[in-house]
Amino acid sequence: MEVPKVFGYIGLATSVLLFTRLLKAVYIYIRPSSLSRYCKEGDESWAFVTGASDGIGQGFAEELCARGFNVFLHGRNADKLRRIQESLRKEYPTRQTKIIIYDASQIDASIDDIASQVGETTRLTVLINNVGGMGSMMPCPYVNLQDYTFKDMQTILTVNSTFSAHITRVLLPLLLKNQPGLILNISSTTKFGIPWLAPYVATKAFAIGFGDALSAEMRADKRDIEVMGVIVGSVQSASNPATPSLFTPTSRAMASATLDRVGCGELSVFGHWAHRLQGVALDVFSQKMFQDIATTQVRKLKLEQEKLK
Ligand SMILES: NC(=O)c1ccc[n+]([C@@H]2O[C@H](COP(=O)([O-])OP(=O)(O)OC[C@H]3O[C@@H](n4cnc5c(N)ncnc54)[C@H](OP(=O)(O)O)[C@@H]3O)[C@@H](O)[C@H]2O)c1
Repeated sequence: MEVPKVFGYIGLATSVLLFTRLLKAVYIYIRPSSLSRYCKEGDESWAFVTGASDGIGQGFAEELCARGFNVFLHGRNADKLRRIQESLRKEYPTRQTKIIIYDASQIDASIDDIASQVGETTRLTVLINNVGGMGSMMPCPYVNLQDYTFKDMQTILTVNSTFSAHITRVLLPLLLKNQPGLILNISSTTKFGIPWLAPYVATKAFAIGFGDALSAEMRADKRDIEVMGVIVGSVQSASNPATPSLFTPTSRAMASATLDRVGCGELSVFGHWAHRLQGVALDVFSQKMFQDIATTQVRKLKLEQEKLK
């Protein structure tokens, strides 16, 4: 075969491959959501949202009520949760909500009692592992690893990963009983490795690894439980009080976009199209280059926020 022809075939094959990948990436953001699989008409389907008293978790609670679910609102602040419950009752009078109080930083074997608070007969079909963030480190979350206290680092690890792993273990029997079921694990673009956030970043990678393995386990055991990791970029929330913009959606918009991705078939996905667009940098650059670009921005934030301490 002539050499120019070989290059022509390689070029054609590469173009077809890239075009197919592009079509797949776009399809994820335009296909209809399969969330309704988990919410039977006339049935009392319930979702459990961790960290529902603010930010993206509150966004999930609102959006799930809007889409026909009753919602367990988990958090640690009873007054805040009651206010949200009241506003949901006014906005969605036909929906029910229940409050579950549990401090995710103080986990022990008592977490098992949450299953009985939910109740054997409740048709729980959705679990959203959202609780987390760096709220406990405000006003400056960017800290060199050696400067963490034991307590601060333990709080980040426990709230962002241990709690989610255990609440999933505790609620899985109910989800299995009410198959099909859905588990969403909220991760972050920081999982690709951002400096001065090492413990938090590790928990966000944990969310993906934990979900990947659980998804494989569900498929291996022929269980109809969809497990999906959600990669989240900047979102306006209590711990990120940025002005909403194209690349910083509101918490409600982030929750809505995430629920729209349900059923897309990926193990993990950028929940919002704008964050996927930013993620193109990862398709083009190496992870180290991506980290170096992010470091420039984070360094500025660190310096600004250190002044607020
Ligand atoms: N916002 C972003 O830019 C962004 C980016 C990437 C990923 N994420 C991820 O998205 C998720 C939600 O973040 P967010 O920005 O919405 O956070 P947020 O606004 O700070 O809200 C966090 C929620 O978790 C609750 N919470 C915190 N510590 C708790 C504890 N010890 N026990 C029980 N509840 C606790 C908070 O309760 P209180 O109301 O009592 O504080 C609140 O309901 C996190 O997993 C975060 O890693 C966020």
